[in-house]
Amino acid sequence: MTDSTEATETFAPPPEFAAAANVKEDAYERGAADFEGFWAEQSRDLVDWNEDFTEVLDWSNPPFAKWFADGKLNVAYNCLDRHVLAGNGDRVAINFEGEPGDSRSLTYAELLAEVSKAANMLTELGVEAGDRVAIYLPMIPEAVISMLACARLGAAHSVVFGGFSADALRSRIIDAEARVVITADGSYRRGKETSLKPAVDEALSHGDTPVESVLVVRRTGQDVDMTEGRDQWWHDTVDNASPEHEAEFFDAENPLFILYTSGTTGKPKGILHTSGGYLTQVLYTMKAVFDAKPETDVFWCTADVGWVTGHSYVAYGPLAAGMTQVIYEGTPDTPDQGRWWEIVEKNKVTTLYAAPTAIRTFMKWGEDIPAKYDLTSLRLLGSVGEPINPEAWRWYHRVIGGGRCPIVDTWWQTETGSHMIAPLPGVLATKPGSAQRPIPGISVDVVDETGEHPAGPEGGLLVIRQPWPSMLRGIWKDPERFKETYWSRFEDTYFAGDGARRDEDGDIWFLGRVDDVMNVSGHRLSTAEIESALVAHPSVAEAAVVGAADDTSGQAVIAFVIVVDGVENSPEVAEELRQHVGKEIGPIAKPKRVHIVSELPKTRSGKIMRRLLKDVAENRAVGDSTTLADSSVMELIEASVAKS
Ligand code: WT7
Repeated sequence: MTDSTEATETFAPPPEFAAAANVKEDAYERGAADFEGFWAEQSRDLVDWNEDFTEVLDWSNPPFAKWFADGKLNVAYNCLDRHVLAGNGDRVAINFEGEPGDSRSLTYAELLAEVSKAANMLTELGVEAGDRVAIYLPMIPEAVISMLACARLGAAHSVVFGGFSADALRSRIIDAEARVVITADGSYRRGKETSLKPAVDEALSHGDTPVESVLVVRRTGQDVDMTEGRDQWWHDTVDNASPEHEAEFFDAENPLFILYTSGTTGKPKGILHTSGGYLTQVLYTMKAVFDAKPETDVFWCTADVGWVTGHSYVAYGPLAAGMTQVIYEGTPDTPDQGRWWEIVEKNKVTTLYAAPTAIRTFMKWGEDIPAKYDLTSLRLLGSVGEPINPEAWRWYHRVIGGGRCPIVDTWWQTETGSHMIAPLPGVLATKPGSAQRPIPGISVDVVDETGEHPAGPEGGLLVIRQPWPSMLRGIWKDPERFKETYWSRFEDTYFAGDGARRDEDGDIWFLGRVDDVMNVSGHRLSTAEIESALVAHPSVAEAAVVGAADDTSGQAVIAFVIVVDGVENSPEVAEELRQHVGKEIGPIAKPKRVHIVSELPKTRSGKIMRRLLKDVAENRAVGDSTTLADSSVMELIEASVAKS
């Protein structure tokens, strides 16, 4: 997505912001001179270690890194106890805004008590260090409480986004071998009750999961089936548990969580993150990129805890930094399109972190909506999930930030655990559309296809040169796939899967994924995963899926399918297939359009040329199709798309 306006205009940080910034220019030099020493210093400064580490980085068996390996810590202690012990127990940790208008505040002391109760209850259910717990919850405080309770016990959580289907939940539970599931009866979305518990029942109904217990939070009060001996209400159990819990300390490399994300094949990858290095870089980016000022800031990251953004910048980052944060349950248009701005005004939010797709939606709704609210508490804005087009950047800066707030465009991935490329807001003049530079201590490059030369001005592939503290430690139970996906393309170098280019100032611009991964509203979806859901439908013989440019969501899922004999090409069938994908994977994966076609473009070796389908989906002249086995196929496809 490009626009014609001058893209090189920059915005220097306001002088007061620059003067008070936590991190100054010298950090770049220190991070580059000795990256291990730099991260050791950040870690000792920002993390409370129960036992200090003697070794910083163990890279003796690449690509399997260990950071701070002989240190011991408890991540939940770092998020809670230490703030209470420092006398900040009365500071608000979470201001929760429910969609129907209810709200709830939890101080650090109260949150510590809630997490302790949950940890005691999980212990009663048999959860121990090294176990896995699946969390399938809406955006309510219990989501964060559950994650921290697992961390407190040294058990890894696997949060499954509440918008994912029963099947997606089931396969993730099985892969992670979770013993316990924490869920809720339901949630509020767009003014309606949605349900979650039935999906858990369905996921467990085959009897092929290792789940022994299900804890159910009551959020909406709707009727749910409770299975005797397996299911218990949170309010009957956790609420009555002891609010005292002594944290044990675990190795720095103890698993903290597994989070499933889409790759280029149909099977989601369980990305594994561990404790000490992860917490170090999450805290450093809170300090350096979000310029966290825990005494005065009110932080609001609008992401769901089902995504990595909600792990690093809802559950862990703001709490480990001792900040007050806002959590909102629902959608931006309930009860009206001013909801986010009402929340900013009411809570005096200082730091807002959102996705470009949301910004573009607000642009469409019009600037008179935010204009009705007092947004002067804001001092810093963040963007994440996909490239932000300069036009949306400028709107965000002017309309939401009142022209006074720096914007940090943060590039990172589920795999990187925390920010990797983003401007330091008190140091760099920001540039609409560019994520600019790696943060201090991180080393990236943009290379050509061979990996041997820097890419030219037209761009190339983004790679990461050195290990970093919050890097993934692997793919759960699949070390070969870990090596193959990220470390096989170039030697000893991490291949991110993103295209990028550097401008004449050396600033980095992202160009989108170079693999078969799509980015819809900042959510990662794989073409292969949706294709396999489609071909699982009895009416479908073959399917190909592409991500086509979309003004609001960045990309939209467009499917091309060949139906089996006897099934007709009708809008009803196309609609049924859309719904089917929604049911198999989740509503976010539902194709925007399903085109029923008679052929798919294939090379002589049978590989589908998605590039050509993308041309059709984006209404462009079809590109070079000379390698097709049958070059007349594209005309047939274009004709049937024109009809549908
Ligand atoms: C992919 C990672 C990072 C948390 C949310 C998404 C794209 C992410 C940016 C950005 C350009 C971005 C990349 C990346 N992406 N942030 N600021 N500018 N592209 O995490 O689901 O793991 O997706 O999102 O393509 O590889 P994820």
